[in-house]
Amino acid sequence: MTATPLTLAPREIDPSVDREIQAIVSGGTGGSTCSTDLASNPWIFDTNPGYGPGASMGDIIPTGAPRQGTLPQEYRDAPEEELHERIRAAKATLGDRVVVLGHFYQRDEVVRHADHVGDSFQLAGFAKQHPEAEAIVFCGVHFMAETADLLSTPDQAVILPNLAAGCSMADMADIDQVEDCWAELGELYGDLDTPDAEGLLPVIPVTYMNSSAAIKGFVGRHQGIVCTSSNARTVLEWAFARGRRVLFFPDQHLGRNTAKAMGVPLERMPMWNPTKPLGGSSETELSEAQVILWHGFCSVHRRFTVGQIDKARAEHPGAQVIVHPECPMAVVDAADAAGSTDYIRKAIQAATEPTTFAIGTEINLVQRLAAEHPEHEIFCLDPVVCPCSTMYRIHPGYLAWVLESLVAGETVNRITVPADVADPARVALERMLAARP
Ligand code: 13P
Ligand code: SF4
Repeated sequence: MTATPLTLAPREIDPSVDREIQAIVSGGTGGSTCSTDLASNPWIFDTNPGYGPGASMGDIIPTGAPRQGTLPQEYRDAPEEELHERIRAAKATLGDRVVVLGHFYQRDEVVRHADHVGDSFQLAGFAKQHPEAEAIVFCGVHFMAETADLLSTPDQAVILPNLAAGCSMADMADIDQVEDCWAELGELYGDLDTPDAEGLLPVIPVTYMNSSAAIKGFVGRHQGIVCTSSNARTVLEWAFARGRRVLFFPDQHLGRNTAKAMGVPLERMPMWNPTKPLGGSSETELSEAQVILWHGFCSVHRRFTVGQIDKARAEHPGAQVIVHPECPMAVVDAADAAGSTDYIRKAIQAATEPTTFAIGTEINLVQRLAAEHPEHEIFCLDPVVCPCSTMYRIHPGYLAWVLESLVAGETVNRITVPADVADPARVALERMLAARP
């Protein structure tokens, strides 16, 4: 798949959209300014390329990425309270026929309608636990909805309320690039599918949940496994027990932070940049590699810096700094702790004394935790309040539309993984679900 750089061509300005977002749309800010109320009317982006407002504004979107198309006017015009009432009414009519799942990064206006809220690992579990539901409405991003489709029954429809809710990190590894990488590694290490005398394969591919179903299928076909940020260490242990080295994609930071914590030296973690021959590493580096890191990253989490941590500690002596492992290594090293969204949530819940928490993850979760825990002081390390722009594309307008369509007997925005991809992808996911510390 070829990628086209996002261009900030002048676009029609919707007067109802707040001024900051208009500045970003017209290219006036260089995309560096974010706020949680930027995307109050996200349908302005429905027919435009790009990830929309916020942190991943400047990333490259693949040309084949799904576009939402225009949301019917009645949902765009409806006041927020009316949308909430319509969502409640549609859910009540549908009863057990529908289950609504929401990731922790979803905006509060969406989370309030979710039957289950969780991190990507927990949501995969919830998708398996509701065989009675005809439809699973997934308020998250595209790769999560694909995973729900893989883990639910064939009769169940998984619905992504806004098709353009992708993930810029997942888009950084496409299947053609990964196949090319595998072919190059095969030339270097020999037959990649045959174990050596000690029963170890030359490379075990490990993909972060934040990847397309096609990549999960690739991993399933090559004795590999999926991980999430909550089980990456367990999964790497699983892989090291079966192979000489690991090819980890798409998030270099999660791979590096996890392997480093397990004692893998940095010099044995070369990078694979898919735009360069041999990924930009030398044959020697690749021969000695223990973990080959794909050149991907999360645009939200790479905003966090050691300087922000230093400032938080200077201004709030005694503050506990907790960051997501998608943050760069120096940030994770400087923090008091690092873990998945659910880890962060539980760490705050476990604090028995009033504590100041400086958090390095997406702003919707941080603000919700702050509201839920008035006994603590909780703030985001990044002073520029930046939502995950693709998560933020799920607005109550889309949720009302997909639910009312179900009531009317129509399934819109269904995410279906084709069988030839689904079968091996499911194998890779089931390996992850079975892997134990
Ligand atoms: P979790 O695995 O913690 O849910 O994170 C998913 C994600 O996309 C983080 O950016
Ligand atoms: Fe993807 Fe980052 Fe958004 Fe998570 S926060 S969905 S990794 S862009």
